[in-house]
Amino acid sequence: MSVLLSVQNLHKTFLQRQGLKQVSFDALRGISFSVEAGQALALVGESGCGKSTTARLITGMMPASSGSISIQGTPLVNLKKRRQRMIYRRAVQMVFQDPFGSLNPTRTVRHHLERPLRLHRSELSKVQRLHRINALLERVELTETDILSKYPHQLSGGQRQRVNLARALAVEPSILIADEPTSMLDVSIRLDVLKLFRQLKEQQQLGLLYITHDIATAQYVADETAVMYSGQIVEFGSTEQLINHPQHPYTRLLLSSVPDPTRSYQALLEQEEDFRHQADRIRQFSRRPGKEYRKHADNHFVLLQE
Ligand SMILES: Nc1ncnc2c1ncn2[C@@H]1O[C@H](COP(=O)(O)OP(=O)(O)O)[C@@H](O)[C@H]1O
Ligand SMILES: [Mg+2]
Repeated sequence: MSVLLSVQNLHKTFLQRQGLKQVSFDALRGISFSVEAGQALALVGESGCGKSTTARLITGMMPASSGSISIQGTPLVNLKKRRQRMIYRRAVQMVFQDPFGSLNPTRTVRHHLERPLRLHRSELSKVQRLHRINALLERVELTETDILSKYPHQLSGGQRQRVNLARALAVEPSILIADEPTSMLDVSIRLDVLKLFRQLKEQQQLGLLYITHDIATAQYVADETAVMYSGQIVEFGSTEQLINHPQHPYTRLLLSSVPDPTRSYQALLEQEEDFRHQADRIRQFSRRPGKEYRKHADNHFVLLQE
C-alpha cells in the first residue's frame, strides 16, 4: 500500500489576544498519522480540539509551528516553485462543512465545475471539458436534468454538497479532506452522502481524511479512526476495533449513550448532573501532556498521559 499523506509530530501555536496582552495557545500538540490510497481516516473530536487546524495545515493554508507534512513523499515545506505548489494544491482537495457558503450564489453549477478544470486542466478542449463535467456529475450521483444551469439556491442541501464534492474531484486529487461535510445536512440524507464518500474512496483509490465531531458516523466511512482532544490524538486504530473496544476515557465519553428516557424527570436530572461531573473530570484528565502510545491490540493504540 502506498502512503499518500503523512503527518509527523505536528504542532501549531496561535497567538491569541487576551485583553491587552497576547497569550500563546497550543492548538496542536504533536499529532501524527498517515493515510494510504483507497483508505479513509476519521479525525474525531468535539469542537475546538484542532480538527480544522489540522486540515488547514495540510492544505497549506497556514504554516505549522513544527512537525512535517508530506504528500506522496514530497514535504510541504519544499514547495518553493509555483509549479510545485500547483501540483500540491491539485493533489489535496477539500470539502467544507457549509455547502452553501462555499458556492458562489451568482454562478451556475456549470461555472463551479468548469473553473477548476480551466485552472488545472487547461489542455482540455471545450468538448472534453463538458465530457469531464458530465462524468463528474454521474460520479456524485447528480442526475437531475438541467442541473448545470442551476444556481446554488435552486438546489437542495444534499445537491449542493454533491456539487462541492464534484468540484473537489474535478482535478483528480489523490487526497480528499472533508471537514464535517454532512453536519449541516438533514439527518435523512447524511447517510447517503457518507456512503458516496466511501464509494468514491474505494472506486478512485482516494485517500480520505474525514473530519467529524460525530464518532458514530466514522463507521460508515472510515477504515481507521483517530480520536482528538485538546490538540492531541488520544486513541487511534481500526474504526471497528476502536468503537467496539474503546480504551481511552475520552473515547468512551464520546461513545457514551444518551440518558435512559424511561426514567423519571428527577432521576434523569440527577443522572445528567452525574454525567456532567464525570465528563468534566475526563476532559481535565485528557488535556494532560501525552508521553507515549501504548499498543492495546493490532492497529489500536492509546495515549498514556502524565
Ligand atoms: N487563526 C486562529 N487564531 C487563534 N486561535 C485559533 C485560530 N484558529 C483556531 N484557533 C483555536 O484553535 C483551537 C482549535 O480550533 P479548530 O481547529 O478550528 O477546532 P475544531 O475544528 O476541532 O473545532 C480552538 O481553540 C480555536 O479557537
Ligand atoms: Mg472545525
